[in-house]
Amino acid sequence: MHYKKKKLFIEKVNSLKIVRKFGTPTYCYSLNKLKKNILDFQKNFKSLSPLVCFSVKSNCNLKILKEIKKCGVGADVVSKGEMIQALKAGILPKKIVFSGVGKKTEELKFAIKKKILLINAESESEVFEIERLAKLKKNPVNIGLRLNPNIDANTLKKISTGKHEDKFGLTEKTFLNILNKFKNSKFINIKCLSVHIGSQITDFKPYLKMINVLDKIIKKSKHTFDYVDLGGGIGIQYERKTKSFNYKRYNSAIKNFLGKHNVKIIFEPGRSIIANCAVLFSQIIYIKNTNKKRFVILDAAMNDLMRPALYGAYHRIIPLLKTNKKNDQMHDFVGPVCETTDKFLSVAGFQNLKEKEFVAISDVGAYGMSLSSNYNLRPKPLEIMVDNKSLKVILKRQKLLNII
Ligand code: LLP
Repeated sequence: MHYKKKKLFIEKVNSLKIVRKFGTPTYCYSLNKLKKNILDFQKNFKSLSPLVCFSVKSNCNLKILKEIKKCGVGADVVSKGEMIQALKAGILPKKIVFSGVGKKTEELKFAIKKKILLINAESESEVFEIERLAKLKKNPVNIGLRLNPNIDANTLKKISTGKHEDKFGLTEKTFLNILNKFKNSKFINIKCLSVHIGSQITDFKPYLKMINVLDKIIKKSKHTFDYVDLGGGIGIQYERKTKSFNYKRYNSAIKNFLGKHNVKIIFEPGRSIIANCAVLFSQIIYIKNTNKKRFVILDAAMNDLMRPALYGAYHRIIPLLKTNKKNDQMHDFVGPVCETTDKFLSVAGFQNLKEKEFVAISDVGAYGMSLSSNYNLRPKPLEIMVDNKSLKVILKRQKLLNII
């Protein structure tokens, strides 16, 4: 994404052409950025030869999953729907891991039938349920146990997952109990120790703590694991002031860990692969000035991009056409939905905008479209992919007729 003669380009395509042709709100992805991110991720952890499983919840577009699959990446899924979508994209079952605290019997049955690599269980009841289903099938099932390491990931409070007050994973005591209970089971093979401490983590230190906890519990358990699934969570720079993640330090801590434990590492990245590959184009419907601020009312809303309303998350907004005129007022970029939290950004001063102009909301590739809804009976937006000079619709705009 860059400006050429003041016009915003996505790869080699002028974004103004996209919005004029396809309308707004529209998610627009860069294929080459996606490929680069995957390559960078693989390079950063090359010495570990890990299995990388893309976290489908961050983006479940079929075309995107197909591209990810082409790069040799597997899938981390959390529902039957995501499993079907990953399989449809051609991802092999032996590269699929299944996480989640509330997997229903039907979902477990499907995972067992498809012989996916691992079901990462998060409660004792779930392990019993998997054993029951495995017995019915008369075939053992490979599972992972997700540990809750009680670590603060220093991230947005609402997306932390690795502390005892969070619903995820097993306490150390239950973890060790389950290992003990199932060690002679003919139907349950506990192959993996899995963990995921949160999302948008930009500091490597919580990961070092996490590895330390894993090291200790493996030693304590005396169990031989084939895999250690470290989850996802690596953050990106939504704001320029955010420090970029120190991959080197994380990589060397894992390398050190592998010196003590002979296991295969699994990663489940979502955001770090897809977040900065996309923008959400939107048109300004009206501008409303009040004594206090200037409301820029967009045609995109919280149903299209939920993160700011849900977590107070920050997404930079930029114009499609740059000008030199500035307006120093306080700007609130809001959507048309009838909720006060339907606001994308408050910013002091912006270039002087006019009604009908277009803007792009940045870094929306992860948990953007996948979290969208039909709230206020608004159809979901269109998704487009740019590859160099070419453009492809990768998901059609939802029709009102289909939701009414
Ligand atoms: N593995 C597990 C078990 C997870 O729960 C998650 C994300 C991931 C992997 C991928 O994490 P990532 O690499 O994308 O950080 N909707 C929130 C984020 C929720 C993350 C949920 N779990 C947001 O928009 O910030």
